[in-house]
Amino acid sequence: MIRHLLDIADFTAAELQLVVDLAQRSELPRVLDGQGAALIFEKPSNRTRQSMEMAVVRLGGHPVYTRPEEVEFDVRESVEDITRVMAGYHAILGARTFAHATLQRMVAVSAVPVVNMLSDESHPLQALADVLTMQQVHGPLDGRTVAYVGDYNNVSRSLAEACVLLGANFVLGCPVGYHASDDELQRLKALGAGTVTQVHNARDAVGGAIAVHTDSWTSMGQEAQRAERAKAFTGFTVDAALMAAAAPGAGFYHCLPAHRGEEVASEVIDGPHSHVFAQAHNRLNAACGALAFLKGVR
Ligand code: CP
Ligand code: NVA
Repeated sequence: MIRHLLDIADFTAAELQLVVDLAQRSELPRVLDGQGAALIFEKPSNRTRQSMEMAVVRLGGHPVYTRPEEVEFDVRESVEDITRVMAGYHAILGARTFAHATLQRMVAVSAVPVVNMLSDESHPLQALADVLTMQQVHGPLDGRTVAYVGDYNNVSRSLAEACVLLGANFVLGCPVGYHASDDELQRLKALGAGTVTQVHNARDAVGGAIAVHTDSWTSMGQEAQRAERAKAFTGFTVDAALMAAAAPGAGFYHCLPAHRGEEVASEVIDGPHSHVFAQAHNRLNAACGALAFLKGVR
């Protein structure tokens, strides 16, 4: 059976931990030796493109970075035809898309593993690096409290899935209108041993948290909403006062790119408890672990 990675929830808890463990192995087999990986981007990227390209190289393969105007999803040819053709050249197809459905359409016809490099719904490669970094800094997440303050978006959704699968107590602090629905909270709770709680102010979200995460208030594709979002997220900036309300020595995490003075204050992201660059660098290790797993390494 071909394995794909569209969401963290595609993994069992044991598989998720295995991928995180593979990400930390000093050597992985060259499972992409002499093979290609097509990496298609509908949106900009720094970390995901660079880390995925270098992960493919580390595993012995050759990455082919592809801009949407070159393949023109559903304009020049259908997503399905593009996928069928590329699967004949490559051992892996990665895509960063607006619609999550584009990735699901790729999976439906692909003869090789498809990797979600961020969609409007989820960002599993980021969550793998988040978990890897938190485990390195704080140890096992089982029974620990992890907070996310900000927008319920692709990043927080994947992080929530990972935390619940690994038995953490995940707390969302999201403004009304930018929060997870009750159905979504039920879906998350059913995934694993962890718990999920949602509150609508930042201070209540971080109590007891060993890790405080945030992300941009305006995601790619939402630029027209920037002003209204800035208003709605007033009071949700992660600053030193908010970090002081978390567990002593709590770590700060951000997937980047960051907007200092908006979702995070410089005193926090540039401060001693910030792990954002370890997190960014772990994107390479996480990508290696994920690709190795999809190619059958156990
Ligand atoms: N965190 C992350 O995915 O960054 P990029 O958008 O730069 O890839
Ligand atoms: N939520 C952000 C994450 C960027 C890595 C976005 O989708 O733009």
